[in-house]
Amino acid sequence: MQKQQKQSVTIRRLRLFRRALWIALPVVVLSALGAYLWTDGARLLISTKSANPLISGKFSLVDHNGRTVTDADYNGKWRLMFFGFTHCPDVCSTTLNTMAVVMGKLGSKANKIVPLFVSVDPARDKPAVLKEYVLAFHPRMIGLSGSDAQVEAAAKAFRVYYGKASGAGNTENYLVDHSAIVFLMDTEGRFSKVFSHNTDIEKIVSEIRQRL
Ligand code: NI
Repeated sequence: MQKQQKQSVTIRRLRLFRRALWIALPVVVLSALGAYLWTDGARLLISTKSANPLISGKFSLVDHNGRTVTDADYNGKWRLMFFGFTHCPDVCSTTLNTMAVVMGKLGSKANKIVPLFVSVDPARDKPAVLKEYVLAFHPRMIGLSGSDAQVEAAAKAFRVYYGKASGAGNTENYLVDHSAIVFLMDTEGRFSKVFSHNTDIEKIVSEIRQRL
């Protein structure tokens, strides 16, 4: 009798444990997935091939003619987009040059694309400075910037990181660290594809051709 009671208690405990496990398991799995998405956001961003829920692509900025624009102003066109700053010693100019070469290689198809350069250094990159800079790369390239808050919001919408380099001081010669990723956004401003700034040009051209 006592032995039977002991057994049933054990079985009850076992059942309780199993039930707890069924409740806990999804929580553990979801937490792990959440942690993965947050910590490996960058990797996810690079590997994703289609619509990316992490990148809204929304922005409200000021273009190089001093006009306030949003992502919707470019609807109907694909956008090849890069964030940087005009004083950048090499990565930005190399990348904008790559974008211009890609446009050239796409021939008439390039008419479907507007190349955009967003400055994350609005203090120095005023519209006139931006205009002169981007037009040196491509006649249809548009320079965008705006208030600190506008630039910050745009960078967030693309999950772009930027910040003054440490030890920059208050001189006019500071550097700005920034993500070096080229975004291909579709005709409604939705995420389509990203390229690392040093992706092979032919690879970028063929990836874009497949989508246009
Ligand atoms: Ni740069």
